[in-house]
Amino acid sequence: MEKRLIIGREKGADITPGMFGVFYEDINYCCDGGISAQQLENAAFEFVEAFGYKDNYSTKYDGLYGWIAYPTRGDGAKLSISEDSPVSEAEPHYLVFEPAKGQCGFANKAYDGVYLREKMSYHVSAYLRSDSYSGSVKVRIGNQVCVLTDRVTTEWKKYEAVFTASSMERHELFVVEFDEDEVKPGCRLCADFFSLVADDAVCGVFRRDIVELLKSMKPGFMRFPGGCIVEGNELSNRYQWKNTVGSREERVRNWNRWAVHNNEDKPFATGRFSHYNQSYDIGYYEYFLLCEYIGAKPLPVQNVGLACQYQSTQLVSPDTAEFEQYIQDVLDLIEFANGPVDSRWGSLRARMGHPESFELEMIGIGNEQWETKDSEFFRRYSLFEKAIHEKYPQIKLIGSAGPDVKSDYYRAAWGFYRDNKPDNFVYAVDEHYYCSPAWFLTNADFYDKYPRNVKVFAGEYAAHIQEEGEGSARNTLGAALAEAAFLTGVERNADVVVLASYAPLFARVGYEQWSPDMIWFDDASCFGTPSFHVQRMYSLNMGDYVVKSSFEDDHVGLYHTVSYDENTHELIIKLVNITDEDCEVCVDAADYNLDYSRIHCVVLGEDAPEAYNSIEEPQRISAYEFELEHKVTPDTEGRFSVKAHTFSVFRVKVRN
Ligand code: AHR
Repeated sequence: MEKRLIIGREKGADITPGMFGVFYEDINYCCDGGISAQQLENAAFEFVEAFGYKDNYSTKYDGLYGWIAYPTRGDGAKLSISEDSPVSEAEPHYLVFEPAKGQCGFANKAYDGVYLREKMSYHVSAYLRSDSYSGSVKVRIGNQVCVLTDRVTTEWKKYEAVFTASSMERHELFVVEFDEDEVKPGCRLCADFFSLVADDAVCGVFRRDIVELLKSMKPGFMRFPGGCIVEGNELSNRYQWKNTVGSREERVRNWNRWAVHNNEDKPFATGRFSHYNQSYDIGYYEYFLLCEYIGAKPLPVQNVGLACQYQSTQLVSPDTAEFEQYIQDVLDLIEFANGPVDSRWGSLRARMGHPESFELEMIGIGNEQWETKDSEFFRRYSLFEKAIHEKYPQIKLIGSAGPDVKSDYYRAAWGFYRDNKPDNFVYAVDEHYYCSPAWFLTNADFYDKYPRNVKVFAGEYAAHIQEEGEGSARNTLGAALAEAAFLTGVERNADVVVLASYAPLFARVGYEQWSPDMIWFDDASCFGTPSFHVQRMYSLNMGDYVVKSSFEDDHVGLYHTVSYDENTHELIIKLVNITDEDCEVCVDAADYNLDYSRIHCVVLGEDAPEAYNSIEEPQRISAYEFELEHKVTPDTEGRFSVKAHTFSVFRVKVRN
């Protein structure tokens, strides 16, 4: 097939720099067991097991989760928990180990086991004390052994050691061993806050491979920490930023909202992930560091006194002092991020190692909130807005249009925000849509008719295939192409859509509560899905403004957008072909003097729509980037070959 694309001189929408960003939530074990470089699970003996369903949640302390006596075939040793004279009042539980002659150690399962890379150095640490054992403590991981200390003291002391792995180790236990010759009958050892972190961890706390993949997208912003975990299944497990800052020992662990996902509707119902906790080894400070490292503007989302509206009816009335505290927490967060080093919260940031401001500009008021008689979300939003803007008028606020773009909640929300509000009332309204690929394709013009007075944040979206499928098999090329097609409309309407992020961002293979997701990983490696490549291709190829363009005639199954990059003087042509046929697109850009002799091309696809990437085949569908250099003849000039089932970006120089 052959189609003619006419590119005119008329300028379209201005494009907000950095409009493509990421939405990060601790779902699918993507924090502990994911981007956190900490390899140990339940390293501080604080985990709980979570049970229940809507309005009926409960937890049971299970501090020994993930720990066993070692050697596993031996016997006689005893593991128990104590809170007497702890290292930390915030996280008071610690392990009491009573070794036996045949069982002189204990071990942590570390998710799928510890993974060590050959020649990489690792930092190990733990707090220990004993008044009945004064021998050595070693850590053994497969064939690697590291001496943590030669002698345990009677008072709590943090022991630290570094070792370099002489070979790769995988799926190994993290074993803590005591010297059998020194073990006397009745001896007891106390231990807490274990840690095993690779030396190449980004900012000392993030797994490098995952973070570098994320950074390669050059996301303009990062919305975090959720998502539903901001709200909690009940208010008691909502995300409270103050519990996540300070030293590791000062943070207060929490159970994860996704621990009870898809539980049956019955009391004490339990599921596969009932031990999904949040250690807060990665907390607000680290998220700000991460934003800085990947070059994304931070966009933290705040609880407005509502637990997850799907999971709970719990709320705090806007007329109470308790509600005022929710507002105060946001004001304090702004001070923590931006405040001077002599302010209360700014000084904490400085003590943690970052005297400079994190330059927080945007805040989300509520996650996926919607208005009901009980929730009174609009009133809550107005109260937060007033208090924040009174003190910080320059902060841009994000509102919520609820859980989808089809319901009355969505229409009511837009009515609320559009209804004669002052300029600064809302910067953009967050819309979420998890829909079929067909919906994305038929709605590529979704924003064409949006009123322009209030801006949109397409904060969570993904094409969900209807077919059964597990894990990254749900991240098909076909779904990604539907997203790419839809995003041509988002780019075309960049004057109204100012921010966009796919959701969710991460998933650990075998630990997912939700798929599809953008990036998958296991203990050892990570890969981007076709949707990741689509997001990256957009993020790296946005111009400064849209250029008006159109196909000359019928173009079913072909989607396009064109923008201009003022820096590089290039026209950026994006073309999506969801058909089974290859297509020749003949560009008619008579108003431009285009240099067709060297075209920068990025092409994704050329595979079956059902194809997907996996740990075994991480690059099956990958964006292929190349310079097309050729002698231009009348036959080749302005002709772009767009294969079946592909998304392509062409950057063409405009001569002066
Ligand atoms: O992205 C997964 C979930 O989808 C988010 O936590 C929530 O905001 C939405 O319902």
